[in-house]
Amino acid sequence: MTLSVQLVSGATTDNGADALIIGVFAGTVGDSDALLALEDALGGGLLSHLKASEFDGKLEQQVDVPTFGRVKSRRLLVVGLGPKADADTARIRSVLAGAVRAAQSSTTKSIALSLPSPLPSLRAVGEAVVLGAYRFSRYFTGERKPKAELAKVSVLVSGKVTSEQKKQLDIGVAVGHAVGIARDAVNEPPNELYPETLAQIAHSIGKDHGFKVKVLDKKGILAAGMLLHYAVGQGSTNEPRFIHLSYVPKKKKKKLVFVGKGLTFDSGGLCIKPAAGMGEMKSDMAGAAAVLGLMAAVGVTKPEVELHVLVGAAENMPDGSAYRPADVFGSLDGKTVEIVNTDAEGRLVLADALAYAVKLKPDVIVDAATLTGAALVALGKTCSAFYATDDKLASLLEASAKEAGESFWRMPLLDELSEQLKSDIADLKHTGDRWGGSITAALFLREFVGKVPWVHCDIAGPVLAERARGMYPKGGTGHAVLTFLEFVERLANS
Ligand code: BES
Ligand code: MN
Ligand code: ZN
Repeated sequence: MTLSVQLVSGATTDNGADALIIGVFAGTVGDSDALLALEDALGGGLLSHLKASEFDGKLEQQVDVPTFGRVKSRRLLVVGLGPKADADTARIRSVLAGAVRAAQSSTTKSIALSLPSPLPSLRAVGEAVVLGAYRFSRYFTGERKPKAELAKVSVLVSGKVTSEQKKQLDIGVAVGHAVGIARDAVNEPPNELYPETLAQIAHSIGKDHGFKVKVLDKKGILAAGMLLHYAVGQGSTNEPRFIHLSYVPKKKKKKLVFVGKGLTFDSGGLCIKPAAGMGEMKSDMAGAAAVLGLMAAVGVTKPEVELHVLVGAAENMPDGSAYRPADVFGSLDGKTVEIVNTDAEGRLVLADALAYAVKLKPDVIVDAATLTGAALVALGKTCSAFYATDDKLASLLEASAKEAGESFWRMPLLDELSEQLKSDIADLKHTGDRWGGSITAALFLREFVGKVPWVHCDIAGPVLAERARGMYPKGGTGHAVLTFLEFVERLANS
């Protein structure tokens, strides 16, 4: 069943939803109209219970209160929104998503959301509801199958509902679903999600929003001269695909290209990875998932920019036809590359996709890739590393990430490390030594973007979460979709 999210004007005590979420700013328990009305309807006890639970609206505090039939909702979930003074969109989105996730139980079919004034951005509320309600349950059967699906979320507003409010909420809901596309793609097992089925997802996004979709198969990749991409895919029976989606509105101020690494599984190839943790490499297409999610969101928000999304999809496997260390290949750009380690496959696929992007003559190229373990070592599992050849773009990405509530940290393109990429027999080697591994990967990619202003995001850490936190669920997080969407909207409006 699909989730319906609506704005409802009316009393919070009489909504009838299975669970009622009440957001409260820090230090405002005594002035919350919703809490006071519920105190009354329950015949007292709520405020003293909150006091005894030391609830005072601090960020992410949650108190679960059963109502024993005294109001229509079976359950109240009182959540702290933190200080009212500097409440920003990112914080509200994160807390509300966490609250919706907490309110969901095996029997919750409906939730109502009561928010204090001033009402936060309804777009962010819509996003939060869908992000919090997300579950990936398609492979459960029998007992493991969820008993009830959350079908309805009512966002309670005091006054009359305006059509602009409704529109903002609907956009937020659609954006939340676009992030869900990225999460689903990361969560899908690699026997179901391989380059061909990833291309099917691109086709369905294209169909939903009227985008042009071009897909090259193995032969097409070879014929186009994307020899590095071809090399990475040659060891797998699941053949590679190159995907190009375009959104070309009538009014457009700029042309942007987003490129995603789409390794549907990265075994390491002949330089095979250790068994422990290899399964996590089903998420090695999270860059592709992020840019596809972005495209689905853009289909709804319709910014005034031309946007191209490119995905280099392949499976990195060892077999008799797999590429090897010491192989030398040409590339779409023309440069020759000596292979050092077949596990550094992402930068090869991206190099050809970036060269393809340059041919589109864009104003900006952004790429997203689960590129290096070194990025995780540097910044941990919650933050992405990013690199930029242009300081203005770097600031724009930082501001966009802040608004989106996602963590990105700028890293330097250290020219002194470039020496590591010199090869004795080809134009370039594709890896350097262990130290500065995320930086040398970025320096390798920079060789393929020409003079186009470029941002590279090494998103290896935050795309897969070990536990739910804020707007991110456990598993695929959809990281980067909201940041990229904000980035595109800011560029469209600048
Ligand atoms: N997909 C991996 C990077 C990765 C590692 C992502 C851990 C998420 C979690 C990438 O293809 C890879 O294997 N990189 C190597 C490069 C090395 C061989 C130069 C790495 O980081 O170890
Ligand atoms: Mn690898
Ligand atoms: Zn990889």
